[in-house]
Amino acid sequence: MPKIVIAIDGYSSCGKSTTAKQVAARMGYGYIDTGAMYRAVTLYFLQERVSFSNPKEVELALERIQITFNHNPKAGRNETCLNGLNVEEEIRKMYISNLVSEVSAIPEVRWSMVAQQQKMGRRRGVVMDGRDIGTKVFPDAEVKVFMTAETYIRAQRRQQELLAKGELVNLEEIIRNLEKRDLIDTTRAESPLVQAPDAVLLDTSHMTIEEQVDWVIELADRRL
Ligand code: C5P
Repeated sequence: MPKIVIAIDGYSSCGKSTTAKQVAARMGYGYIDTGAMYRAVTLYFLQERVSFSNPKEVELALERIQITFNHNPKAGRNETCLNGLNVEEEIRKMYISNLVSEVSAIPEVRWSMVAQQQKMGRRRGVVMDGRDIGTKVFPDAEVKVFMTAETYIRAQRRQQELLAKGELVNLEEIIRNLEKRDLIDTTRAESPLVQAPDAVLLDTSHMTIEEQVDWVIELADRRL
């Protein structure tokens, strides 16, 4: 059977990555969390005090960054590594969420990440989630989903995720963060978040993860 690319784009905390991960597992495909890559770059820039507004500094810093995904069989997940160090927990923290959209709006950062993502998916057989997969990274993806959900519901889901990791953040702060990220993501000059004309819209506000996974797999089955 031919292998295809499944692109899942959309707003923050709509369930993109949880859905994408499970779709990939059921189809025997690879899963690439492109948001994790932008988060890892943000962490590096903070650690190395890279000035976001200095393109030369940004370019030099990008040359020193290597992002990989290592499978952890015990945790049953892929973990993001930055220059060989496992940063999976760190990049999910709120201080990274507060800066990641600013960093991912930098054109040099996007060019570098997009090139790496295209390389990772060149053999196809991947599910990739992000903001510009169906528009920029794989405009020829066979399956394109654009996810959305009500802001309040997204914030509640995000709060539960953070709580499960021991980080207590109030709902208002999460709503502010989601709205700020959505605004930066949809208005940036370089590959803004926008629904591809051939993407299918999925509102996950009142869906369970299982329903979302089944929905994407049904769509994929029709394209195979
Ligand atoms: O998916 P996640 O919420 O972890 O992504 C973090 C941030 O990375 C997003 O808010 C967005 O600013 C950026 N991002 C992006 N392009 C992608 C994936 C993520 O700009 N393909």
